[in-house]
Amino acid sequence: MNIEGLNILVTGGASGIGLAFVKRLCERGARVWAIDRDRQALDQVAEDTSRHEASLQWLECDVSKEHDVLATVDFVESRSGGIDVLINNAAILLDQTLVSKLGKKIKKHSLADWESTLGSNLTGTFLMAREVAEKMILARRSGLIVNLSSISRHGNPGQSAYAASKAAVDALTVTWSQELAPYHIRVVAIAPGFVETRMTQRIPDMFLDRIREKTPLKRFGTLEEFARTIEFVIENDYLNGKTLEVDGGLRF
Ligand SMILES: NC(=O)c1ccc[n+]([C@@H]2O[C@H](COP(=O)([O-])OP(=O)(O)OC[C@H]3O[C@@H](n4cnc5c(N)ncnc54)[C@H](O)[C@@H]3O)[C@@H](O)[C@H]2O)c1
Repeated sequence: MNIEGLNILVTGGASGIGLAFVKRLCERGARVWAIDRDRQALDQVAEDTSRHEASLQWLECDVSKEHDVLATVDFVESRSGGIDVLINNAAILLDQTLVSKLGKKIKKHSLADWESTLGSNLTGTFLMAREVAEKMILARRSGLIVNLSSISRHGNPGQSAYAASKAAVDALTVTWSQELAPYHIRVVAIAPGFVETRMTQRIPDMFLDRIREKTPLKRFGTLEEFARTIEFVIENDYLNGKTLEVDGGLRF
């Protein structure tokens, strides 16, 4: 696909990797519809990206809520004339172990954190993909769905909910790539290693230092490297049903 002129919907666009995608795709001539549930972050980035005003629209939407997703996809579809690319980037990370014992105290993984992680990372990806794919199929429009997975999808101590959600996103990428190929819709995932964003600010420095040391390239990825990855995924029409690992060679 040629990026120029595409209508691209990015979830979780108000921060980190999503914001890097939004800026790069605007620079490449796409019309970008960026959604996020964080009102404050949305207001801030709208100011920050005002130079892209003509090709960029910010919308508030919680991807874990079905009514929000239905309304947002309908709105973007009708205003844009048709979504060509969906980037399922929104996610949260709420680290905790399944069960741990500190002295005499037992701490169990909370069900609320489990459900909200799966809500944003997995249900959100499912709802957005379902609604956008329906529009593409009805309009007989070829398209692309990109899902953000993670190196944690293989399992990572302290990340039960996050790792499970990202493993599921990988499985959905394979499943949907086969289901949607007859409609000329590609589905691809990107699995980052570590990049410094608001998400990684939640991880203790000591742990981040250990990860950096364990990474063969001895550094984290940059937002520029992820901006280049999204360009490659959109432009390479033979890429389908695979997860691209962009992690500096890190293995847990
Ligand atoms: N940063 C990393 O090292 C890293 C590593 C592996 C995978 N990833 C993945 O990359 C993607 C982007 O991560 P990031 O580091 O830029 O995170 P981030 O926290 O900087 O940005 C995520 C954005 O998603 C939004 N969001 C979360 N839940 C939402 C919901 N339900 N509805 C709408 N918006 C919602 C947040 O408000 C935030 O603006 C995520 O899918 C993440 O799992 C990141």
